[in-house]
Amino acid sequence: MSSIRICTEQPLFETAPDFYGLFFEDINRSGDGGLYPEMLRNRAFEDSILPERCKPLDGTYGFVTPEGWRDQFNNGEGLKRWMDGIEETPVPAWYARDAGMSLDFHDTLNKNRLASLTIDFEPGGYVTNIGFRGLSLVQGQHYEFYMFARGNVSLTVSLESKDRHVYAAKTLDITGTDYQRYDLTLCPDQTDPDARFTLESRAGGSLNLGFTSLMPRDTYKGHGMRKDLMEMLHNTHSGFLRFPGGCIVEGFTRETAVRFPHMIGPVWERPSHNLMWHYRTTNGLGYHEYLQICEDLDLEPMYVINCGITCQGRKPELFKGEELEQWIQEAFDAIDYAIAPADSRWGSLRAQAGHPQPFKLTYLEIGNENDKDVYFSRYEKFYHAIHEKYPQLKLISNTHTENRGLPTQIVDEHLYSTADTFVTASKKYRNYDRSGPQIFIGEYAVTSGLDIGNLKSALAETMYLMEAEKNQDLVRLTAYAPLFQNVDYTAWYPNLIAFNNHACFGIPFYHALAMLARSHGRLLLKTEADVRSGYPEPEGLNGLIAYQPGIFVKNVHVNGKTAAFSHGIIGSVQSHGNGILELTSDYIDELEGYPNTGHIPMHTAFVTFGDTEESSSTFELEVLLQSPEQEIDIAVWVHSTPMLFSRDETNPFYTSWNPIYTDRYVWSIKQGTGRFASVNRFNYSYFGTECRLPIRYGEYNRFQVKTRHGGFDCYLNGRLVQTACMVPYPMVAELASEDDTYIYVKIVNIDKTEEAVEICLDCEVDAEYEAELLTGHPKDTNSLDEPEKVCPISRTFSNGSGAFTYLAPAYSFTVLKLRKAVFGSARESIS
Ligand code: AHR
Repeated sequence: MSSIRICTEQPLFETAPDFYGLFFEDINRSGDGGLYPEMLRNRAFEDSILPERCKPLDGTYGFVTPEGWRDQFNNGEGLKRWMDGIEETPVPAWYARDAGMSLDFHDTLNKNRLASLTIDFEPGGYVTNIGFRGLSLVQGQHYEFYMFARGNVSLTVSLESKDRHVYAAKTLDITGTDYQRYDLTLCPDQTDPDARFTLESRAGGSLNLGFTSLMPRDTYKGHGMRKDLMEMLHNTHSGFLRFPGGCIVEGFTRETAVRFPHMIGPVWERPSHNLMWHYRTTNGLGYHEYLQICEDLDLEPMYVINCGITCQGRKPELFKGEELEQWIQEAFDAIDYAIAPADSRWGSLRAQAGHPQPFKLTYLEIGNENDKDVYFSRYEKFYHAIHEKYPQLKLISNTHTENRGLPTQIVDEHLYSTADTFVTASKKYRNYDRSGPQIFIGEYAVTSGLDIGNLKSALAETMYLMEAEKNQDLVRLTAYAPLFQNVDYTAWYPNLIAFNNHACFGIPFYHALAMLARSHGRLLLKTEADVRSGYPEPEGLNGLIAYQPGIFVKNVHVNGKTAAFSHGIIGSVQSHGNGILELTSDYIDELEGYPNTGHIPMHTAFVTFGDTEESSSTFELEVLLQSPEQEIDIAVWVHSTPMLFSRDETNPFYTSWNPIYTDRYVWSIKQGTGRFASVNRFNYSYFGTECRLPIRYGEYNRFQVKTRHGGFDCYLNGRLVQTACMVPYPMVAELASEDDTYIYVKIVNIDKTEEAVEICLDCEVDAEYEAELLTGHPKDTNSLDEPEKVCPISRTFSNGSGAFTYLAPAYSFTVLKLRKAVFGSARESIS
């Protein structure tokens, strides 16, 4: 039984108006072919052009930047797995039949276009674009096509099926030696999510295509964005939108960093560039479009600028001197484009683009995930320059710049971790100095062990946010990351909203987030809670980590069954016969071009055993240690993160099982003593007491760890030598807020059993109340086939009163909406 006492007479503070927000980054092809519903892939014919100054690796497979960062390329198709079932073509997404097709790098539409497409049609020849895994057509809808072309040819422009059944067609005569714009509208007579776009010439002839585009006419508020995805955003009830990134702000070279001037003006004049998420963007969803989205969804804009550094995790380039000054000027220009009057230099460009009135611009973030001295010096310059000219903007820094004595208004902190970590992580805010800067949790997500967010991760994330809400005097802004995922082009997992070219769904946390935002309230109320606590559920593989060479192991068993070597996270094992394995480390200062920034000790070997990720209750193995100097960790549960940008075979360091993305519980045996720890990367959080262990050096010792509820029992050569209790954490979390009419009580129960929660209030509420409930099996998730498998359901109860009991189902998040029995206006403000 848990209990919550809600003190409506003691509101703590007003809630932060922009607490729940969104973060859009063009990742997983969420721009072109996503929120920006361009239907033609490679509309500017530039996808197969290598990023500037980068050198090809293994033919067209990958490239390497001048500083040595490597990425996959595949002739511009992106990641290899995106090409499954896609026929090879020299010009991605375009296919020619009875026609010659080649890129022309000289005769381009304008100075910003890198190529045009030359097509020589034989009579009856044609070229086809396959879009983003097909074009999605809806019968009776209108699709607007335009292209810039020069040449002499009569064309039939059509929308058709894969096998060339025509749904809509019109003819166009191309004449002239200069590029001209041609426009037409097509209205298909059938629905087909896997259609094609075709240009065909009956008589033959030649042309150069300078730029093409095909878009649905029906877009959100007529402003060009995909309707269903915008509605998904609208339904989150968010307060702000961070844009454009993320790592793409930084780029992997100076040419691939996001630039404001490339994101405004006619789209065919905007330069394209490669994003670090393995494809090229035409910047159609640019800065103007972003500001328009904010206006249409009533979101406060939060624009992120590059502050003179490319991505620090990808072998950075640093901008200095005059080049750095230019980036400061670019920040000014972007700000002016948004807010300066229509008769100013930048305001007039905004007006030409159809928005004479200034947009809003509320927040500005100086860099993304930047740190260290190279950041501090640049941050200081940008901060002073921008603050002096635009004191009304709220400025955000990437790290605790205040600790360097730098002026700091808001600090952006990011967290990608395990569900267990999320349950406790935001408790740290209780201890933050209230006289310091405000906190923006700019990117967060449970990533460990997940391809897609499930109910378990949603509940952990919800607990994290509820604790952050309790610290709303400090934590003012939050945003899950990333926002979107085209399921056919995913580079990062998990994401909040998934879509293909015609459908979409939210992961369970999408629904939790909307529930939280809807019930945010205006005042946070004091609660006194006595809630049940518990322990993490054992989940994961077993393993062994050796920190010195020459460590041998044999007779490895999991739950009484022989367990074979399964993953070499660092190094591997060498077999010496008779079941004896030696741990080997291949770890050097640099792995496949990636520096050892994680401070992983030299000679480390880290391997796992067993072939499932199921819970283990007993792990045993015999290890030969020569002296106390040979140190090991017996890893009891090892979780991996299957992915991130990492499922990129060009950087083998980033595989599912790598030292950066594995978390674990270990019995750590060092200098003859044992201690338990939970470990993230190579950061140890110890728990339990340290014990001297009677290890027999020079011979095999049998180590055995038994997991029991809330702890571990450890045996050495058959004797119980150490026990450790895990740090308990809450299984139930609560939060209460109010507005003029309702008191909102939020309850999360992450346990496998229903929990009776006694709720006491110091005021009267109506007997009838509504409960919005998100529940299911912890591993349940949503999908294109079952988009609403985990989504909120509403229940009405009639036992509301000053004291009543709510039964919180196992694995659930509930919002109780209690109507105040005597309601007037809520307190105007907090004194
Ligand atoms: O959200 C995905 C990436 O995670 C962002 O680009 C970056 O800021 C972070 O590392």
